Amino acid sequence: MANSSNYIVTHNNRFIEELIEFLRIPSISTLSEHTGDIRRAADFVKDKLLAAGADKAWLVETIGHPLVYGEKIVDPKLPTVLVYGHYDVQPADPYELWNSEPFDPIIKENKIFARGAADDKGQVYIHVKALEAMVATQSLPCNIKFLIEGEEEKGSEGLTAFLEGPHNHDLIQADAILVSDTTILSMDQPSLTTGLRGIIYFEVTLTGPNRDLHSGVYGGAVGNPINILCKMLAALHDENKHITIPGFYDKVPSMTDAERTELNKVPFDLLDYQQSIGIDEVIGEEGYTTLERVGIRPSLDIHGIWGGYIGKGAKTVLPAQAHAKLSMRLVPNQDANEVAEAFTKYFSSLAPKGTRVQIKLGHGGCNAIVLSQDSTAFQAAQHAFGNVWGKRPIATREGGSIPIIAKFKEKLGCDIVLMGFSLDSDAIHSPNEHFSLTAFSKGISTVISFYENLAELSKK
Ligand code: BES
Ligand code: MN
Ligand code: MN
Repeated sequence: MANSSNYIVTHNNRFIEELIEFLRIPSISTLSEHTGDIRRAADFVKDKLLAAGADKAWLVETIGHPLVYGEKIVDPKLPTVLVYGHYDVQPADPYELWNSEPFDPIIKENKIFARGAADDKGQVYIHVKALEAMVATQSLPCNIKFLIEGEEEKGSEGLTAFLEGPHNHDLIQADAILVSDTTILSMDQPSLTTGLRGIIYFEVTLTGPNRDLHSGVYGGAVGNPINILCKMLAALHDENKHITIPGFYDKVPSMTDAERTELNKVPFDLLDYQQSIGIDEVIGEEGYTTLERVGIRPSLDIHGIWGGYIGKGAKTVLPAQAHAKLSMRLVPNQDANEVAEAFTKYFSSLAPKGTRVQIKLGHGGCNAIVLSQDSTAFQAAQHAFGNVWGKRPIATREGGSIPIIAKFKEKLGCDIVLMGFSLDSDAIHSPNEHFSLTAFSKGISTVISFYENLAELSKK
């Protein structure tokens, strides 16, 4: 019987062929015209789980897109791990900035380029192939359950509703949850994510006059919703880049000097960072380092702003309405509902008389999380990186959000490990997203090592 390391080397090319097939499916969860593709992607994951040796796998219908559930139970007495990930992807636009087709994957310099390559299909597929290798070589030391969803990129509403049903908890009950949807520091320095920020998302509309107006006839005499909305949005930060919403920082924990020193020990080169994204200066909250600004401090960003005339040539319009999408990233202790309320109240107060503001809460928000580094599962993950990458992973706090993680923690209460394999430079959510094929195959080995370590540590 071949061991699993030989197996993944022997079958590596086929694994990549299959990943390419997965990446060809434009499973964009936010666009209704892709509902069929979403289902195809879900079926793909289900079929590949069965092919990999899962005892059972099926689609679980939700109020939104389907979940894929699968399991391989070798012995109920062994530890059980729930693997979570998502098969949905972000929209691919702006298309014109891609050097290849987003849903026609290509391999260049040992990286696979496609929407979803790193976030999260490539990382989900690591787990499917780890299962296959362990089943094929009869070396699976744990029970594994899979829960792969199709709405992570829009706030996980279907899965949240699924978790509301306590009878559903039995199905996914596990000793630990394992997630590969975050980053490592570099290919030379692995890391394990111990915290994620929360998020709340809004769409705002400011309305002025009852119709678009000629800006010569009315300009200067009537408030322009775009001018005013820009001012309102600008007022959300002060000159030190603090967020101005009253009470916003009330629950933000202040870190001790020792904690801050620890966090800033993570290898980080500001010049490299700036260069990698083509800027020559960073701008952020006064008094904090870049690592702190994304790791332990909240933020507020505008994602889109539109209104008036944006077609070719000039049109002298004073628009009736202006719109923007924005979100806030939250840190531990901040409550998404409270912050949403504070924002709504404050932003409404910024609208001058003669205008009306409408504030719509966007997709499912979530609170931030901090994970335990003492758990058996975390130790198993540390050893796995040590074994496969030859280096102990550094603990990091990341700025992104995975909405369901806080809910898993609240509802299931088990240990959670964020064992991601992507790099900041993989351009997730951007044109030319890619995933290192080295990270892909090392990821499979790391996941296998994790199960072995967990089984071993759980015996003690
Ligand atoms: N995988 C990311 C989150 C992430 C990225 C965590 C990098 C850590 C490092 C996830 O797919 C994502 O993009 N989440 C969204 C959530 C939102 C749409 C509710 C996010 O963070 O914007
Ligand atoms: Mn993701
Ligand atoms: Mn994402």
